[in-house]
Amino acid sequence: MPGAIPNELPHHTSFFDKHKFIETNATLLLILSFLVVTIGGLVQIVPLFYLEGTIEEVEGMRPYTPLELTGRDIYVREGCYVCHSQMIRPMRDEVERYGHYSLAAESMYDHPFQWGSKRTGPDLARVGGRYSDAWHLDHLRDPQSVVPESVMPKYDYLERTLIRGEHVDELMATHRMVGVPYTDEMIENARADFRAQADPEGDYDGLIERYGETAVVSNFDGAPGVTEADALIAYLQMLGTLVDFSTFTPDASR
Ligand code: HEC
Repeated sequence: MPGAIPNELPHHTSFFDKHKFIETNATLLLILSFLVVTIGGLVQIVPLFYLEGTIEEVEGMRPYTPLELTGRDIYVREGCYVCHSQMIRPMRDEVERYGHYSLAAESMYDHPFQWGSKRTGPDLARVGGRYSDAWHLDHLRDPQSVVPESVMPKYDYLERTLIRGEHVDELMATHRMVGVPYTDEMIENARADFRAQADPEGDYDGLIERYGETAVVSNFDGAPGVTEADALIAYLQMLGTLVDFSTFTPDASR
């Protein structure tokens, strides 16, 4: 046939004729496109309303203390998630290496969550309590001093950067806006609790009363004053320690 475009589908099939009708009728095309987008939208959006019900409530989960929350911000700022995940998958090799697989509830107060997608270094979801504070300090200062083959960069400036937590109450209020159940009392005492957690010599009864025994009080970096290293180590030492897996039984009905 002269002028025919090679490899084109034959025009006379009935399906393409019908589609041609839609394509040449602007109003119909608009209505049908709208329908398709609506259905697609519903499929994506409706499940979000039931998200609450998919997260099993687990005993022990609590909002992060002001110092831990600050440490978490430093973790995000330094991009630790680029090399470390925080999600142990329920596969045998992972469970044997890292411990009990991660529960959805364990990241319920993480905004944004820190699951990560790359493991240049090990998963950190249960690193809390595995090493001493001094080990973490040495490791952050110079990873190769404790693990010679490590490719982790040095974070020695964290222990030289003093912080006062002057905005930690606002940070907590922001987290409350997205659903973390910080009470007014927690926010009012944020700066006091911030200092108390890094000072075992001081009065930390209020901190324990508000956050429970899992709030570890320690002079994490072994030096006077609160530094970014204190906050980051407080955060690392808390990871994976909130849920007591010796008493936890998963709810299979979910
Ligand atoms: C370039 C990739 C990289 C970055 C970025 C990185 N790490 Fe690492 N990290 C590693 C590697 C590799 C290891 C394993 C060797 C070692 O222990 O140093 C590791 C190990 C660790 C460990 C010991 C884990 C275990 O179970 O033995 C901790 C804790 C840790 N990193 C914390 C951090 C923190 C906190 C940050 C951000 C301030 C960070 N890392 C940034 C690569 C990285």
